[in-house]
Amino acid sequence: MKVAPVTASSWTARMISPDDDFAGAPLLRHEARLDGGHGDLVEASLRATAHGVFTAWINGAPVADDVLSPGWTSYEWRLRYRQYDVTELVRAAPDGNVVLGLALGNGWFRGRLGWGGGRAYYGSELGALAELEIVFADGHRQVVGTDGTWQAGPSEVVENDLYDGETIDARLRDDAWLGPGFAAEGWTGVHVDDGFDPSILTPYVGPAVVRHEEVRPVRIWASPAGKALVDFGQNLVGWLRFAVRGERGSTITIRHAEVLENGELGVRPLRSAKATDRFILSGGDDTFEPTLTFHGFRYAEIDGWPGELPPDSLVAVVVHSDLRRTGEFECSDEMLNQLHRNVVWGLRGNVLDVPTDCPQRDERLGWTGDLAVFAATAAFLYDVEAFLRNWLADLAAEQRAADGRVPFVAPDVLKYIPQPPGRHTPESTAIWGDAAVWVPWTLWQAYGHVDVLSEAYDSMSAHVRRVESLLSPTGLWDTGFQFGDWLDPTAPPDKPIQAKADPGVVATACLYRSARLTAQAASILDRAADADHFGALAERTRAAFTEHYVSDDGTVHSDAQTVYALAIAFGLLDEPVRQKAGDRLAALVAGSGYRISTGFAGTPYVTDALTLTGHLDDAYRLLLQQECPSWLYSVTMGATTVWERWDAMLPDGSINPGQMTSFNHYALGAVADWMHRVIGGIAPGEPGYRTVRVAPRPGGGLTWARTSLDTRPGRVVVEWRLGEDGGLDVDVTVPAGVTAEIDLPDGRRQRVTGGRHRLTNADAVSEMAGGGAE
Ligand code: BGC
Repeated sequence: MKVAPVTASSWTARMISPDDDFAGAPLLRHEARLDGGHGDLVEASLRATAHGVFTAWINGAPVADDVLSPGWTSYEWRLRYRQYDVTELVRAAPDGNVVLGLALGNGWFRGRLGWGGGRAYYGSELGALAELEIVFADGHRQVVGTDGTWQAGPSEVVENDLYDGETIDARLRDDAWLGPGFAAEGWTGVHVDDGFDPSILTPYVGPAVVRHEEVRPVRIWASPAGKALVDFGQNLVGWLRFAVRGERGSTITIRHAEVLENGELGVRPLRSAKATDRFILSGGDDTFEPTLTFHGFRYAEIDGWPGELPPDSLVAVVVHSDLRRTGEFECSDEMLNQLHRNVVWGLRGNVLDVPTDCPQRDERLGWTGDLAVFAATAAFLYDVEAFLRNWLADLAAEQRAADGRVPFVAPDVLKYIPQPPGRHTPESTAIWGDAAVWVPWTLWQAYGHVDVLSEAYDSMSAHVRRVESLLSPTGLWDTGFQFGDWLDPTAPPDKPIQAKADPGVVATACLYRSARLTAQAASILDRAADADHFGALAERTRAAFTEHYVSDDGTVHSDAQTVYALAIAFGLLDEPVRQKAGDRLAALVAGSGYRISTGFAGTPYVTDALTLTGHLDDAYRLLLQQECPSWLYSVTMGATTVWERWDAMLPDGSINPGQMTSFNHYALGAVADWMHRVIGGIAPGEPGYRTVRVAPRPGGGLTWARTSLDTRPGRVVVEWRLGEDGGLDVDVTVPAGVTAEIDLPDGRRQRVTGGRHRLTNADAVSEMAGGGAE
């Protein structure tokens, strides 16, 4: 269907709210007759959004399969609307009677957000704005929109909150409201929100949230306390769906958790999020699916089920933004494959409309730092371009309102939450703030659309300028609050900020990277003066870093692995100091017994820094370590997602006593980016993979790896295998029109173009199908 561009002034509908709140989940309905005398209906579209979240129906049929729309944006400046093609639904309207129905829930707008227990940060009233536009054969347009004539009434949902869960009373179910001629007894009117500013309405940039797949229980059993427990075998994000029949008025209560402790649900990591759904039975055949909440869980505890719980009675529904999988990785080491699956599930659990830190506890916020380090991994595994452009639009909006300061979370709800006395005033911090630069740069590299840089440029440059204003006279960013190498494994559980790496070293290194990337963006965008300004800042920062933090023997101040990882990976050091620093890093890595010694800042870069300075074997040993703390430790403990802490679950099976104990945090999974590029051998040669760099570096006892990526120009596949004699055979598939620069560890180098190519141990390229070597 052709979709006409919508402008603020083209909306005739008004934002309406029910006169009664109806337990936070009101229904809104309206009946209309199709205009006669204009010939056949040609097309019909519905645009809809809400203060809260909504589901829309036309004559009893849902208009689409999205859930939790319009998701969460910086509602002060951006309220997205969905646009649905409803031609068939309207055409099928009996006797030309159209019944529009909208069901609302609290969602992010009015539900709980953050760990302080507060709610309703964006407003106290739910509301809806919807407009049905029908085009007839003679060109006549009929518009039916929300206005003061709509009716509001109660739904079957009697409680709903994203963190706490949902209660559905099936005795209240009655679909009659979705049909014509409904009596609407007990219903009320609505009022128009005159204060609503339609200029904030904006179409979706990224995808909506949808149900993705169903996961069946792998085990149902009774806990030591006699509770019925269900294991879905996978830590996931979504909700349960089930059919049941039982005594009218009886209640089934379902609690969710990611882990078990002492054989019972381990709910302490959820902190204050109740993650509890309740279902009150009608006495007939009931189906329940709580779509106004979501939970991060692998286990569910079911209380009050009538009789025995049959294994096929429940499914877990996996819910997240509708992203397309693009990258795959598999190798000869099953532990690494499980780690990679955990990274994929960690991503899937944290892309429910907003890229979040975690999906289960009283947080689920768009923490900027987590994405800053994970964006490259995400952009390989899934097509996240539109999803993250949407998020960057929120980040930029927040930043504009805060004088260039990048919020810790986007959308920034923390600005509404009163901080305890004595708490620092929020200021841009390294890594978290650098998301403003690193994320658009990552999207540019992954997808090659320069628009992402032009859209984000003001935000990128505002961030760097703001940081520039915070520097000490030395030129170092050693002032103010920093998260630094957050969650260093040696930090005490209650002090995740207490890292070995000096926060000034971390921050100054990050500034260098951000200034350099912003200078590059400026020159791509033909902003010569800015390119000079940020280029000069980058050079001054690099010089200050060397002067104050680096010794001639390659020692970097505070001598922690993270400071070497950043200095090397971000290009702050010249030879021969760089090599000495790499050697020192390798010595520290070996000295820590190849156990992880880095937190949020260093972990994504430590394997790269080792690789760049000739310590590939050490990078592999670090990656393949199974003792705690390490990437594979969680795999040995049966993890199915990446954890927030290396030891979120302690070796004895108990849960880490710290407050930050999520079992589904993607940040530390950023090592998958190294796996894709260095083990797998696929990296962009030019932005958007217009050329591909194919440089696998086998090691760690792996005998084969297969990595593939659906790039914008097409599918790239790299498969390597070590022969019996240790020689390396590589198969490379390159899309038409793309050149791959193949660079193998034994010095073989080839440029090949579109087609499939095999490089055997002995000879050079032989063409297998299409294309040819250059
Ligand atoms: C979040 C992190 C976040 C951090 C910063 C935590 O509560 O879960 O992932 O980046 O706070 O302080």
